Amino acid sequence: MKLFDVYPLYNVTPISAKGMVVTDDKGQEYLDFYGGHAVISIGHGHPHYVEKIKSQLDKIGFYSNAVQNPLQVKLATKLGKLSGCEDYNLFLCNSGAEANENALKMASFKTGKSRVIAFKNGFHGRTSAAVAATDNEKINAPLNKQQKVTILPFNDITAFTAEIEKGDVCAVILEAIQGVGGLEEPTSEFFQKIATLAKENGALLIADEVQCGFGRSGKFFGFQHHWDAERSQSIQPDIISIAKGMGNGFPVGGVLIHESIEASYGMLGTTFGGNHLACAATTAVLEVLENENLIENAAKIGAYFNEKAKEIPQIKSIKGKGLMLGIEFDFEVGELRKKMIYDQHIFTGGAMNKKLLRFLPALNCTKEHIDIFFNALKEEL
Ligand SMILES: Cc1ncc(COP(=O)(O)O)c(C=O)c1O
Repeated sequence: MKLFDVYPLYNVTPISAKGMVVTDDKGQEYLDFYGGHAVISIGHGHPHYVEKIKSQLDKIGFYSNAVQNPLQVKLATKLGKLSGCEDYNLFLCNSGAEANENALKMASFKTGKSRVIAFKNGFHGRTSAAVAATDNEKINAPLNKQQKVTILPFNDITAFTAEIEKGDVCAVILEAIQGVGGLEEPTSEFFQKIATLAKENGALLIADEVQCGFGRSGKFFGFQHHWDAERSQSIQPDIISIAKGMGNGFPVGGVLIHESIEASYGMLGTTFGGNHLACAATTAVLEVLENENLIENAAKIGAYFNEKAKEIPQIKSIKGKGLMLGIEFDFEVGELRKKMIYDQHIFTGGAMNKKLLRFLPALNCTKEHIDIFFNALKEEL
């Protein structure tokens, strides 16, 4: 059997990794400023994480959601405290797309409605309703196109008001900082207005924090950068979806559902979601984020990156927050990314915006790593 050939691959074969460094089968080391697409949050092979998963595996790796699993309760309590979202309940699943699928389904259950408002250049996953809410025709099959989704631009409150006031919308879904789309962000004013209008029109607000969550933006959640002046608190989405950095490579996702939304047996469910190993991995990530102050580090190192980027005249703009960053050039960066990998041995990311080089390192990235990156970049430019 061969592999179903859907991924264009770089010619690199990593076989081990530690911290910010990935090593290939020839012993060549690479600095990882891509984190396997924003997944590596606490660094490759972090000793606390490895120890927690190994010792959990020695006890029990999996049992279904038909029995008690205190590790889920421990994880939910820790996540609530660290994120400041204690008035939400947690449903665990296995990936970002699945998190958004469950989020959208919950919104539809709760409101009895079925149309979704999503945003231009947004990315929410590759399955059913999640892909329908993703602004990319090419990855939507006719089956997905049956969903009722309206895609609107960020920051156009007139267009948003006209759509939401039709009254048939169950969910408004957005990324506080767009990942795949190229690090565009809504203004706080727009975010605040759509939250208010969604509430007034009986729709739920879903923050897709799959990529910008779990500390990557320099706050626990990306939406927490946006202040709701009316209520003197940050924006409060009804539902928050999480994955990626949550497991530092262990496949895990989740949905934080505001406690005003009631659960009932059988409403959501999954075989693998919330298994013992996934809980051990995620709890270890939370412990490292807290004990090593990695969210503060993301904010600090992100600011340093901005300073350094401003010194390079070829960089036209710097986008993003914390360690979810992009630098925009006036040329397409495909070749530059290849040179960074093959000549400089540095992994970076791309985006739908072909002129944007994305930077998504582990949150314990240091100033020294940033200096190495910019010296290599200058050489290639
Ligand atoms: C914002 C966002 N949502 C959802 C997803 C889908 O996550 P997964 O690939 O784990 O299904 C992604 C993946 O890149 C993402 O960036």
